[in-house]
Amino acid sequence: MICLGIETSCDETSVSVIRDGREVLSNIISTQIEIHKQYGGVVPEIASRKHLSNIAYVVEEALNVANITFDDIDYIGVTYGPGLVGALLVGVAYAKSLAYAINKPIVPTHHIEGHIAANYLTYNELKPPFMALVVSGGHSHLIYVKDYTEFEIIGKTRDDAVGEAFDKVARVLGLPYPGGPEVSRLAEKGEFTYKLPKTKFDNYDFSFSGIKTAVINIAHKEGEKLRREDMACSFETTVCEELTDNCFLAMKALNINKVALAGGVSANRLLRKMIQEKADELGYTAYMPDLKYCTDNAAMIASAAHYNFISGKYYDIKDKLDLNAKANLRIGE
Ligand code: KG4
Ligand code: ZN
Repeated sequence: MICLGIETSCDETSVSVIRDGREVLSNIISTQIEIHKQYGGVVPEIASRKHLSNIAYVVEEALNVANITFDDIDYIGVTYGPGLVGALLVGVAYAKSLAYAINKPIVPTHHIEGHIAANYLTYNELKPPFMALVVSGGHSHLIYVKDYTEFEIIGKTRDDAVGEAFDKVARVLGLPYPGGPEVSRLAEKGEFTYKLPKTKFDNYDFSFSGIKTAVINIAHKEGEKLRREDMACSFETTVCEELTDNCFLAMKALNINKVALAGGVSANRLLRKMIQEKADELGYTAYMPDLKYCTDNAAMIASAAHYNFISGKYYDIKDKLDLNAKANLRIGE
């Protein structure tokens, strides 16, 4: 079965063709990072307009690289939330029109389910159940993946998402958007010398606004004297420790011994190392997506769409035209 996947939830216009949920035939990503960099973050209006001018070309390239035509598509998977509503709308409207025109089913797909499915593209043998540590620009969640389309939220951030905290700290350290990779690069040259606050709740929730504020306060107080490399290292280490500790605490309590990383921050080398080391120590198995599937891409959306499709979560666009983008869509909704 061939799925065309479409992802436009933030600042990448991406279209992919995959077979049977796991085999990637093409995965085209047209990123807008250089445009948004000038503004220090994603400007939603500009993102929507760029998706609109890009989408048809990105679809064409995805079909060309996969060496297929519209006739070969069996179903269309599209991200309908969460994300920037105007950006999501472009992908959703395109997917609906295409589904109508070629008379193929549409599979509305959750962006975070896509990030989790990035692991299926990397590990052919991986099957639920497992714990997913979802860390992106908009989300920090611990999700128990009971089955391909069955999820339970075990913990979540009470304020900022991890990627968001990385991006804000990057700004304080004078680094460009997107800040995560930049902070990580700077951190490699520094040492863990700044003591920063960690949060602990009586469940498996996270919080990252306290540490972000602490970094801002120290940066203001120290001014020119701030050791930027050491601050980047201290911030990255503290955040990765909090994520790792909380994740394994939940896994032990729930008796789950497989963990998969997901989302843009899963590209972080220190987080990958800490999760791998802790898993090795406990005799657990850790999965982390190939770097090209960590940040937003349509192959992961097509993979998640495949599992929704085979479990019957799709419909014929001619029966139901009202699919809409949902900025705050919750997982499992
Ligand atoms: O998943 P993603 O591409 O978009 C959302 O769904 O939010 O994640 C983007 C986030 C950004 O905040 C970016 O700074 C962060 O992922 N990120 C990283 C790294 N690479 C991307 N954060 C830390 N270390 C990295 N290597
Ligand atoms: Zn994402």
